[in-house]
Amino acid sequence: MAWRLLWVLQRTSFSVPTISLRNPNCSPLYPSAASSPLLTKLWKRSHTDAAPLPSPTQKTRTGTESGDNAGAKSTSFRSSLNEAEVAKFAAIAETWWDSQGPFQTLHLMNPTRISFIRSTLCRHFRKDPFSARPFEGLKIVDVGCGGGILSEPLARMGATVTGIDAVEKNIKIAQIHAASDPLTSSIEYHCTTAEELVKENKKFDAAISLEVIEHVADPSDFCKSLAALTVPLGATVISTINRSMRSYATAIVAAEYLLNWLPKGTHQWSQFLTPEELVLILERASISVQEMAGFVYNPMTGDWSLTDDTSVNFIAFGTKRNK
Ligand SMILES: C[S@@+](CC[C@H](N)C(=O)[O-])C[C@H]1O[C@@H](n2cnc3c(N)ncnc32)[C@H](O)[C@@H]1O
Repeated sequence: MAWRLLWVLQRTSFSVPTISLRNPNCSPLYPSAASSPLLTKLWKRSHTDAAPLPSPTQKTRTGTESGDNAGAKSTSFRSSLNEAEVAKFAAIAETWWDSQGPFQTLHLMNPTRISFIRSTLCRHFRKDPFSARPFEGLKIVDVGCGGGILSEPLARMGATVTGIDAVEKNIKIAQIHAASDPLTSSIEYHCTTAEELVKENKKFDAAISLEVIEHVADPSDFCKSLAALTVPLGATVISTINRSMRSYATAIVAAEYLLNWLPKGTHQWSQFLTPEELVLILERASISVQEMAGFVYNPMTGDWSLTDDTSVNFIAFGTKRNK
């Protein structure tokens, strides 16, 4: 019955007007996707549609080459930590690798989000998406890595992965789990935040942060830290939940209260960002969003797939402007 309800809710069309962000520096109301040519273009693009490659005259610098560290040295970003949010994850840290536990949804979404990451990064970095290790030669930071359920597949695909998380217990669990497989034992895990890594002048080809931005103190500062962690023309991938009526019904009421997929109180609806807001925040952080997709759940198969519908869960790929 509850599954049927979730399915109906997913297909019911609700909409709310875009409201201002919590950060007053980033709060003006701005046009809806329908009235903005840039956003309309982004929205209409399916995930199979190619993201623009860096222009042939612009060589994509990799994280292994010297980065633009001088800029990072003089920049400091405010803490992204929201203590109440971090405490929620510390309380359930032991359950990261329980595929039936509180992180079940992330485990189920993983193949779909990895397919988006594989296709966008391969296109951008001119890698062969059909190779067994398409991310060979790329340095990727997984910000808010939790127990490593994304970091591990990235490492298996050949990337040199650094996973960071604000919760010490998550990092310990991630380290223990990764150590059991030679393909993942090289992952470097650290209990830290994006802004701390910026202070250390760390640079990566790609910064990926899935389902984290809705838990940080200030999304705008957080995105600036992600931008500072990437080399010019580097990539950023962020996934989160739209602040729509539909997300309230599915991601909070159904997932937390009816289906018990997540502990009650996991998400605060007011902390969700609309796709338009995320695009704007990233744009202000010098990251141009090139591609976006939504996720849809099929209760018959239990699978998630990519869709043009970004009204609940969505993922965005952007590239840092070459200043
Ligand atoms: C919903 S989980 C997502 C985990 C992982 N990214 C995934 O999707 O599989 C959110 C994670 O972000 C971490 N987190 C929350 N705020 C953070 C911050 N400011 N800096 C780093 N990690 C943070 C939490 O500890 C938690 O592990």
